[in-house]
Amino acid sequence: MEAKKKSSFTGSLGFVLAAAGSAVGVGNIWRFPYLAAKDGGGLFLIIYLALVLTFGFTLLVTDVAIGRRTKTNALHAFGKMQKKWSFLGYLTFCVPAIIMTYYSVIGGWILKYLAVYLTGAGKAAAQDGYFTDFITSPVSPVVFMLIFLCFTALVVYRGVEKGIEKFSRIVMPGLLLMIIGIGLFSLTLSSTGADGTERTGLQGLTVYIMPNLDGVTPARFLEILLDAMSQLFFSLSVSMGIMITYGSYVKKDVNLSKSLSQIEIFDTTVAFLAGLMIIPAVYVFFGTEGMASGPSLMFVSLPKVFEAMGPLGGVLGMIFVFAALTSSVSILETLVANCMEIFHSTRKKTSLVIALLSAAASVIICMGYNVFYFEMKLPNGASAQLLDLMDYISNSFLMPFISLLTCIFVGWIIRPTWICEEMEASGHTFKRKKMYAFMIRYVTPIIMAMLFLQSAGVFEIIKNMFG
Ligand code: PHE
Repeated sequence: MEAKKKSSFTGSLGFVLAAAGSAVGVGNIWRFPYLAAKDGGGLFLIIYLALVLTFGFTLLVTDVAIGRRTKTNALHAFGKMQKKWSFLGYLTFCVPAIIMTYYSVIGGWILKYLAVYLTGAGKAAAQDGYFTDFITSPVSPVVFMLIFLCFTALVVYRGVEKGIEKFSRIVMPGLLLMIIGIGLFSLTLSSTGADGTERTGLQGLTVYIMPNLDGVTPARFLEILLDAMSQLFFSLSVSMGIMITYGSYVKKDVNLSKSLSQIEIFDTTVAFLAGLMIIPAVYVFFGTEGMASGPSLMFVSLPKVFEAMGPLGGVLGMIFVFAALTSSVSILETLVANCMEIFHSTRKKTSLVIALLSAAASVIICMGYNVFYFEMKLPNGASAQLLDLMDYISNSFLMPFISLLTCIFVGWIIRPTWICEEMEASGHTFKRKKMYAFMIRYVTPIIMAMLFLQSAGVFEIIKNMFG
């Protein structure tokens, strides 16, 4: 217990970088560009930005303020606020527990690609079928997952200040510089297609940032809106207890309003720059059809872009690894911090035990592509294997549900003033107080309910009913 009490970030910069480390992840550099390409370029960007400033801000404020005011982890925070709501703490704890089972598997895949580029075998990785061969093989994915998990565990083992904060202080600025560098380089690319037309990075840039309103019907607009919302929510690492845990490490004199705005700016800037680095490159090499390749963009199209970039491909690989590492650190830290509280155990012992348990669970997830292979249809229409199923349960099902309950709890039972008081505890005014109260009580619960219904497949059912 003693060790836990002393854990805190040294100041606001440490907190901002660590939280930004959690927020910036594969979601920013892979999912965001892919959604932007799919959802009308600039149209998606505008919608996303508007949502970050209102809806994203509200969710982030809620989590961090709960953490700092209760000075405890999600598991106990809700119960401390009101006994009857303890169950929400337990529910929230489930999210990082589920995500941890597959996040290091994806981290391992990314690490494998980095290793392939660094050893000069990039050509092979750009071949069709390489990715499937790799993930279905029995040993290699497990080995890379374990290496990735070891790095993660090492940072968490070293503690909040010496591990997480120190690591984020080095990695995050480096990450930003690398993304800016590759983004600028992407704009200078050009290639001539088989039909003789020349495609340039700057043309790719217009595809990315110009709003494309072709075929945008009200139903399609709603789809884009829901895409942007679920992305934002995942991207900010909210509603999974992570920001509550990080909030509990923030000292009382830190100006939360300012720090949270900085985290949002960091996360959104990285997402925007990632689009700048990926969309023009994919456009130059594969044209508009390349961008329609969907989620497989990351492991199927991108390796070809990496390959075409030569040695810079390795830098791109490194960006992915670091972004994934800081996120997985935040997931493991949340699990460790919660368990330290439950079992009154030391950080070192808890990190080791949780890392071992995560490794065992991740091995099972890896086997989801060979021994335990199955193909199922999810309520939202997507087809899934074991990993996708876990991702669906945590991100599409539990997160909007938890968020909905949290908004009802904070907005109507605890009341927004409880949060606003914490936002002003450092003596700084919370300028967006009125907007926050309105959002948490009325807007966010409705949005969350919509997201939840969408993932549960209710919209699909209604659509089918009306033909
Ligand atoms: N926020 C991270 C991203 O954008 C993802 C993440 C999910 C991080 C879950 C922590 C926990 O990629």
